[in-house]
Amino acid sequence: MCGIVGYVGKHKAASILLEGLKRLEYRGYDSAGIAVLQGGRFNVAKKVGRVEALVREAAKFTFTGKTGICHTRWATHGGVTDANAHPHVSSDGKLVLVHNGVIENYVSIKKFLLSKDYTFKSETDTEVLCNLIAYHYAKEPVSDSRSRFFESVRKALLHIEGTYGIAVMCVDFPDEIVAARKGSPLLLGVGDNEFILASDASALVSRTRNVVYLKDGELVHVTKDEFSITTVDQAEVSPVVDQITWSIKDAELNGYAHFMEKEIFEQPAALENAMRGRFSEDGSTAQFGGLNLTAADFRVIDRYCFTSCGTAWHACLVAEHLIERFARIPVEVDYASEFRYRNAPLDRDVLFFVVSQSGETIDTLAALREAKRKGYKVMAICNVVGSTIARESDGGIYQHAGPEIGVASTKAFTSQLLIVAMFALYVARMRDMSYADGASYVQGLRAVPELVRKTLEQAPHIKEIASRYAKYNDFLFLGRLSLFPIALEGALKLKEISYIHAEGYPAAEMKHGPIALINEECPSVFFVPKGDIFNKIVSSMQEIKARKGKIIAIVTEGCELPAGLADDVITIPECHDAALPIISCIPVQLLSYYIAVARGCDVDKPRNLAKSVTVE
Ligand code: F6R
Repeated sequence: MCGIVGYVGKHKAASILLEGLKRLEYRGYDSAGIAVLQGGRFNVAKKVGRVEALVREAAKFTFTGKTGICHTRWATHGGVTDANAHPHVSSDGKLVLVHNGVIENYVSIKKFLLSKDYTFKSETDTEVLCNLIAYHYAKEPVSDSRSRFFESVRKALLHIEGTYGIAVMCVDFPDEIVAARKGSPLLLGVGDNEFILASDASALVSRTRNVVYLKDGELVHVTKDEFSITTVDQAEVSPVVDQITWSIKDAELNGYAHFMEKEIFEQPAALENAMRGRFSEDGSTAQFGGLNLTAADFRVIDRYCFTSCGTAWHACLVAEHLIERFARIPVEVDYASEFRYRNAPLDRDVLFFVVSQSGETIDTLAALREAKRKGYKVMAICNVVGSTIARESDGGIYQHAGPEIGVASTKAFTSQLLIVAMFALYVARMRDMSYADGASYVQGLRAVPELVRKTLEQAPHIKEIASRYAKYNDFLFLGRLSLFPIALEGALKLKEISYIHAEGYPAAEMKHGPIALINEECPSVFFVPKGDIFNKIVSSMQEIKARKGKIIAIVTEGCELPAGLADDVITIPECHDAALPIISCIPVQLLSYYIAVARGCDVDKPRNLAKSVTVE
């Protein structure tokens, strides 16, 4: 939520900043702004709207400075106005700041600053922090020493409750930025005689792949020649420079109309990456390098708790189904935001899993910390390498899905489904699953990328269906067992990108209430896989049809539905039960994507949403 970029180097900052900001736009896109330090003053441009609007606004300025910061906003405190857009300049004109996060105690600090004659132009918590730094700066002994600027930021942060990723410039120190983080991501790109600060790597990967991931409580002082890291408590930190493994090409559209479309079609490759090197040599189980637990440790686990948010929470529900079914170990699934506050009673031998594409979702991070505080080990399934959740967990499994930029998660979700399916196999083989069943499970998962490729070939057919259904404003998604979470996911995808009201239910549950919604204007999407409950699902479909509801059926190839029962049929290839949620998800991703496009929606940047939710 909110993206920030900072630049100190030998080139003019503005175009580098704006280029980086465009790549962070998915983090928030209601307003944007830039500040460049030149000629002893800050040149600031801000505009409500997308980064493109800021680029047009910035064209009216002559930005020549080589140090600058910029921001794309997802509003928390204060409406969407030019005045509330970042950067914010302190009322004495000395400092300018961009911020990602929430300052929780801003009201009392603002009261204090007003009593000291600081003034405010916006309704934001961010301007309060900026003026607080200015207050400390004014109190520092006047000197040219670099530490004067740095110390004022550090001292201000000691009074802050809440979360922040910030980048600050001071008018008296033209080639410097001080940045800091607590609860909001921030990394420093170490380039060729230049440094770039950013909320995530996509903003800087075109200039350098060498990055330092800042940790909570750390401040970095960047000059045009060097950088140093210190904690808010003044401990020196030896920086570790990591390498980003992907390139700028991976974060570009490469001919696709939208990132969501690109990421849907990237799924075969993402799934291959998720399974690479993760099956045992005898081909009967999975293996993971990063769990940091022995087989003996796993033997004593008698319950798993999975927690996360949104789409990733749906992956947890699939984990529950697969682990309970194949490994016969009970699994509990919690929304991370609920787990943190409900003080769940927990047994001794419980292992936690958090699932997060970004690795920065604040609710998931808070749940992780709560479980650790209670003394439990927490494993993370994450896509973003070096993310806070990945770093703070006791072990985990990286997804290797590549950067996911579309706000609606697609390839990250299916790779989470694959990983939880592999994990279910891993623990099942430690219990009662036979070698033969393990081997057929492995074969089933190895086939997944090819089966997804085959399912994607139906895109033109699904697009045509979408064109006929795009006019409806209510949808039901109905699936049973491991496909109930996929029904929830189908409904979530549709509502978040096309603003259509949609609900997911277990198919049989529909008659306990939701069936009241059914009429000619409320279509249902049914998951109808081959298997024991095929006939039961067909009965649910009959109940809908009897009430004139339209039906789109996602059916396993070769399964015959009664004539005329479904208005439209999308077939999926036959697959192993552990792979079924992955394969079944592809048609609903495509359906929601094409419906959103047909309705003229901004697929990659749906209203009110942002990719990485770093506020509570
Ligand atoms: C929906 C979507 C969100 C995320 C959720 C958690 O398409 O992407 O529901 O799944 O915000 O995000 P991560 O996985 O980054 O923790």
